[in-house]
Amino acid sequence: MSSESLPGQLSGRGHIEIEGVSKVFASMAGDITALERIDFDIASREFVSIVGPSGCGKSTLLRCIGGLIPVSDGAIRIGGDVVTEPDPRIGYVFQKAVLLPWRTVENNVLLPFEIKGKPSSADRAKAQEVLEMVGLWEYHKHRPGELSGGMQQRVSVARALVTQPSILLMDEPFGALDAQTRDSMNVELLRIWQEAQTTVVFVTHDIGEAVFLSDRIMVMAARPGRVHDVIDVDIERPRSFEKVEADERFWALRQRIREELH
Ligand SMILES: Nc1ncnc2c1ncn2[C@@H]1O[C@H](COP(=O)(O)OP(=O)(O)OP(=O)(O)O)[C@@H](O)[C@H]1O
Ligand SMILES: [Mg+2]
Repeated sequence: MSSESLPGQLSGRGHIEIEGVSKVFASMAGDITALERIDFDIASREFVSIVGPSGCGKSTLLRCIGGLIPVSDGAIRIGGDVVTEPDPRIGYVFQKAVLLPWRTVENNVLLPFEIKGKPSSADRAKAQEVLEMVGLWEYHKHRPGELSGGMQQRVSVARALVTQPSILLMDEPFGALDAQTRDSMNVELLRIWQEAQTTVVFVTHDIGEAVFLSDRIMVMAARPGRVHDVIDVDIERPRSFEKVEADERFWALRQRIREELH
């Protein structure tokens, strides 16, 4: 079925189709099958988390979706087009912050605009807005090396959001943050997601975070990396920590995923 023929949310610029995707890394010590026949469809504007043991292929899958590495077999389509290279419609937050050390925080956030030329005043206003959102505008003249690891990661989040991408790929973006900052980033992310109508694919090791944020959770198994289960999170939105933590469905889902991972 082509994406054009799908109704409503299923089609659109944020629609991701993963079809029979395998990824094999050739190495001196032998081939590694990082992903084996992954089939998964993510609707436009859906929030999907991926959980699974270390080494099960979460980052690899995200990099394939982002067009950063080629698949070995199968295909990934975004808005109906096969992914062959990095796509400007996609914002990417890497597991480790990737910032240019010689540029200021502000100029790191402006980087995505420079692909099309000199940033406009509207681009600069947008950069200020996203830096304020992650609580770092007062550091905009600083260099990344003058920031803590968690602050650098928040700059990466700001940079991924600045172009208002239709898809946001996030690889353990809040793993390095303290619990309080992480909570507020989670709430902020849900607000952005709802406002910007973005599709989010979010990798995390934190099961509670996955349940709090997501519409669906993909549980992966390792060696070879594959889909073990896909779980619907049927908890109403908008969500707050108070509401979600008072909901027994939250604890039941957490427990179920924990058991599946063991
Ligand atoms: N560039 C590479 N070359 C060779 N093997 C790789 C490469 N990248 C990943 N792999 C292998 O692919 C498998 C999946 O790695 P990946 O980084 O996707 O795991 P992950 O689920 O993100 O793990 P973690 O939770 O630790 O981040 C691992 O066995 C890893 O050794
Ligand atoms: Mg990873």
